[in-house]
Amino acid sequence: MTTDRDTTGGVRWHLRAFWNRKRCRPTTALIADWLDGIQPVSRELLLIGGSAGWMMSSRWLQRFEHIRLIDIDPLAPTLFRWNHGRALSKSSTRLEFIQRDAMRDLDAILSEYPLATIFFDNVLGQHVYRVLEFDKAECELNHIAERLSGRDWGSVHDLFSGPVDSNTLPSKPEFRFDSVQSEHGPSVEGVSGSALHSRLAAQVGGQGEWMDHATSGIFSLGTTTRLIAWPFLPGYAHWLQAGWVRPDS
Ligand SMILES: C[S@@+](CC[C@H](N)C(=O)[O-])C[C@H]1O[C@@H](n2cnc3c(N)ncnc32)[C@H](O)[C@@H]1O
Repeated sequence: MTTDRDTTGGVRWHLRAFWNRKRCRPTTALIADWLDGIQPVSRELLLIGGSAGWMMSSRWLQRFEHIRLIDIDPLAPTLFRWNHGRALSKSSTRLEFIQRDAMRDLDAILSEYPLATIFFDNVLGQHVYRVLEFDKAECELNHIAERLSGRDWGSVHDLFSGPVDSNTLPSKPEFRFDSVQSEHGPSVEGVSGSALHSRLAAQVGGQGEWMDHATSGIFSLGTTTRLIAWPFLPGYAHWLQAGWVRPDS
């Protein structure tokens, strides 16, 4: 596993997400299906790293009265309205954009909105790109659950990603696994760590060295999560982890 330098969000993300939206549909549907099972405690949502919501479920967003979209990207609110505006009007959901670095200001944001449900929308796996030091990013991410203690929160984030070769795809690839958090990160049927990574990468035709997004320790031991394949680009795929933590857990 390697870490690689890359950017997060911005015009590059929007163009890639737009051009590859058909390819992303099965993953978006799996995320929506998982979100359907999440009943948020609050009708106020802090949607962190929501961007344009290219892969977000309008259906789930309609459960909220007030969504605060928090992103560093100034293009986010216009494009988010383009993707979800009509659905949000139908449910009379108010959308407010806050341009802010949510990782730097997380503690302040949590105390400014003490009752809100929080969803990290494919952003925690990008932290390593901004911190640029794997160990530092991993340590910060491993402590995020403590900082969110007592809150209703969830996250979908990159676990790892890498090159794929469509010629090596299995005949019946599996794009979704239920997992439970172990000392070695998510575990599927007792398999975790590098053995699990190899097994998952093989489902999408993974080749060569894959990037670790430093997110394997975000959830506490015993948390149930769902692993979802995301074959994002013609020669490149990700595996995402989706999990939810209740305020009393
Ligand atoms: C991979 S994109 C997420 C895409 C989005 N969830 C979607 O479905 O379109 C990551 C997003 O996180 C935002 N981001 C990255 N670091 C951030 C931070 N520290 N605070 C707020 N937003 C951040 C980026 O600007 C980008 O829009």
